[in-house]
Amino acid sequence: MPDTDIRLLDEQDRAALVNHLFGLDAEERASRFMGRSSSEMAGRYASKLDFAVTSVIGCFEADHLIGAAELHPNGQGGAEFAVAVDPDRRGHGLGSLLTDAALELAAHAGLAEMTLHCLPTNCRLVAILSRRGIRILHDESGPFARIALAA
Ligand SMILES: CC(C)(COP(=O)(O)OP(=O)(O)OC[C@H]1O[C@@H](n2cnc3c(N)ncnc32)[C@H](O)[C@@H]1OP(=O)(O)O)[C@@H](O)C(=O)NCCC(=O)NCCS
Repeated sequence: MPDTDIRLLDEQDRAALVNHLFGLDAEERASRFMGRSSSEMAGRYASKLDFAVTSVIGCFEADHLIGAAELHPNGQGGAEFAVAVDPDRRGHGLGSLLTDAALELAAHAGLAEMTLHCLPTNCRLVAILSRRGIRILHDESGPFARIALAA
């Protein structure tokens, strides 16, 4: 695994987050944002994200943001999870690292559950979840998971 730092992002990291999400290609953006979206939309999303509401965990390599996971309140006492890793850094365990960091943060914050949705084609995310014993369910909107967190 590359030598990386994991930490919560704040306002000072906004430009790095904009660059990271803006830099995803069309397929990755579709996976990250659950459908088609433009790089401008992804950049705009990052430029407006409220760090006081949404917790964003960043993965840095030599001060460069190469991946980020977020927890956004889901209105049911839990948070919706999303994650992306730079294409040239995939397959080195960083998505797994960010997923574990998000699960830990959510549990420490006393959240009841972590939820997530993904496209049916998202084999990598499904592999990460399955390895952690997380069951993937399906409804009309596609695969999803509802992970109960220890109180
Ligand atoms: C999903 C994502 C975050 C994974 O990041 P990553 O750094 O590659 O993740 P890891 O290296 O920790 O793990 C990838 C897993 O996928 C598996 N994998 C890789 N290629 C695969 C393939 N073609 N088919 C099935 N599994 C595959 C790896 O074996 C690994 O599983 P393992 O730990 O059981 O061996 C990354 O692909 C990504 O950013 N995708 C675009 C955004 C996205 O889909 N976000 C999720 C929805 S919000």
